[in-house]
Amino acid sequence: MTGTRQLDLLVIGGTSFVGRAAVAEALRRGHRVTTFNRGRTGPDVPGVRAVRGDRTDAGALAELARHTFDAVLDPGGQVPADVLAAARALRASAPFYAFVSSAAVYRDWTALPWTETASIHEGTADDDGPPDLFTLGPRKSGCERAVFETYGSDAALVVRPGLVVGPHDNVGMLPWWLSRIHLGGTVLAPGDPEQPLQLVDARDVAAFVVDRVEAALGGVFNTMPSVPRTTIGEYLDLCVAATGSAARLVWVPDEVLLEHGAGPWNELPFWLPTAANPAAAWPVDATAARVAGMRCRPPEETVRDTWAWMQTAAPTTGALDHGIGADKEDRILRAYT
Ligand SMILES: NC(=O)c1ccc[n+]([C@@H]2O[C@H](COP(=O)([O-])OP(=O)(O)OC[C@H]3O[C@@H](n4cnc5c(N)ncnc54)[C@H](OP(=O)(O)O)[C@@H]3O)[C@@H](O)[C@H]2O)c1
Repeated sequence: MTGTRQLDLLVIGGTSFVGRAAVAEALRRGHRVTTFNRGRTGPDVPGVRAVRGDRTDAGALAELARHTFDAVLDPGGQVPADVLAAARALRASAPFYAFVSSAAVYRDWTALPWTETASIHEGTADDDGPPDLFTLGPRKSGCERAVFETYGSDAALVVRPGLVVGPHDNVGMLPWWLSRIHLGGTVLAPGDPEQPLQLVDARDVAAFVVDRVEAALGGVFNTMPSVPRTTIGEYLDLCVAATGSAARLVWVPDEVLLEHGAGPWNELPFWLPTAANPAAAWPVDATAARVAGMRCRPPEETVRDTWAWMQTAAPTTGALDHGIGADKEDRILRAYT
């Protein structure tokens, strides 16, 4: 234990990435953790009390609510109506609700960097549309509203990560770069190596959430390094070092990539051409979380640990397909070099 009493925590989900890291962190600190999921996405972290069920099933939520918990952690909610139903069902059984939202809730690209008070997408608490990556901003905003409407601002924590990386990555961007660089040869490195990156390790988000849950302190926090702390150039160099690869990175300028139809972000992970985002690649101000005690580990630790994890487990398929195909990469490199 870390000085706090042992807590009884309910984690809705907890078997994939950020939720998994939160479960592992809570167990490491000696808390009792109950996870509630369908048993489809992955195995539970050893040491939890696993309850199988579907969060869209009112009966299953009512059954959960027969137990008391010190807090609910909802790392993966994306459908506001489901979050609302869980919050309402559990309000009397658990006095605190922690929700993992996203920096995708912000919408005003003329007011950068975003602080927690920046304007966010309009979301409604009872929106029951299916999870959809392309409406993530309004949906997460609706989820946040559902939590605050039910729990009030003192008993609700909302964290807003940007792009999350680390072991058990279920997005696929860093794993793609590690795999590509491990393959070796000449590697197309996209754009300006000085492009800033403000990535956060899932384990650091998890530690911050568990800190706040232990102290029962609500609030809304951007959860990432307070400012960009690395660049895409440094990050790909870390991938070379972690994999021990003899790959040679060739930096191809934005205009050449765009001329050849290369796709930012998904096709060439982490790449945001200046033309697509002239203000800043990662325009989020996360000072409040730092002041509240959030610590972010060095990028080299994240890259090294992610590579180590990839040696032991089949990486989870990302929500989107990432990575440029070998033929296209080769074609662009030939045209450029
Ligand atoms: N990755 C990023 O870059 C990024 C950036 C910003 C924000 N975020 C947010 O961070 C969160 C990350 O979530 P995560 O996947 O890491 O959480 P997680 O808790 O580790 O995994 C998601 C869990 O939800 C469970 N689940 C899904 N549908 C369910 C249902 N109907 N009933 C019960 N359980 C269900 C899954 O288990 P079963 O399928 O077995 O039920 C799984 O355990 C997301 O909210 C995401 O929007 C991520």
